[in-house]
Amino acid sequence: MSHKKNKSETFKEQYAQIVSEANPDLLGRAREIGYLEEEIRQVPHGAVEIGLGCGNPVALAELHKGQVVLDLGSGAGLDVFIASLKVGPHGKVIGVDVTPEMVRKAQQFAKEGRYTNVEFKVGQIENLPISDGSIDVIISNCVINHSPDKLTAFKEALRVLRPAGGMFISDLEPIPVGVVLPITPEARWCAAGDHG
Ligand SMILES: C[S@@+](CC[C@H](N)C(=O)[O-])C[C@H]1O[C@@H](n2cnc3c(N)ncnc32)[C@H](O)[C@@H]1O
Repeated sequence: MSHKKNKSETFKEQYAQIVSEANPDLLGRAREIGYLEEEIRQVPHGAVEIGLGCGNPVALAELHKGQVVLDLGSGAGLDVFIASLKVGPHGKVIGVDVTPEMVRKAQQFAKEGRYTNVEFKVGQIENLPISDGSIDVIISNCVINHSPDKLTAFKEALRVLRPAGGMFISDLEPIPVGVVLPITPEARWCAAGDHG
């Protein structure tokens, strides 16, 4: 029986493929989109090489020691690892991503780097595997534009946030019409706002 793949299945396969092809050029891109040298140096090198964001949401969030942070669509974990240094050993950072290969890679980096305050889970941002009112700060980097149901994703974010919690999102890149970027096609999905 023929099976036509839907968009979600296709992009999950594409992200699974990206995980197996770390790209050293993304180190330079990480600097360009707002990560500090100091941050890049302190986190697992591989996570920077598979970083696919379009900004630095951790820089926007001004995290404090002891906070519980959730990263929506955490990929290989770059923002989770940076946030983990900010919240310290009494805080916690949870990454949720729909692509199992991404989650496994992030877990591998966490184990190798002996991070004790991070956790990575397979899950959808439209149906978070997180309990109500348990999160101080949500971050997300180039993920929500992929969601087929953004309203539900935002409702889920609201459900898991504590009262007075905050959400800091980096998403679409403001690219002038006609400009061809010297970046990977997968990063361009976020520039275009779609991956179709
Ligand atoms: C452009 S990458 C960004 C990854 C990471 N935030 C970073 O900055 O490197 C998009 C990520 O979002 C994940 N993703 C896309 N749609 C998702 C959804 N509906 N729920 C959870 N994760 C999703 C993909 O698997 C992929 O890892």
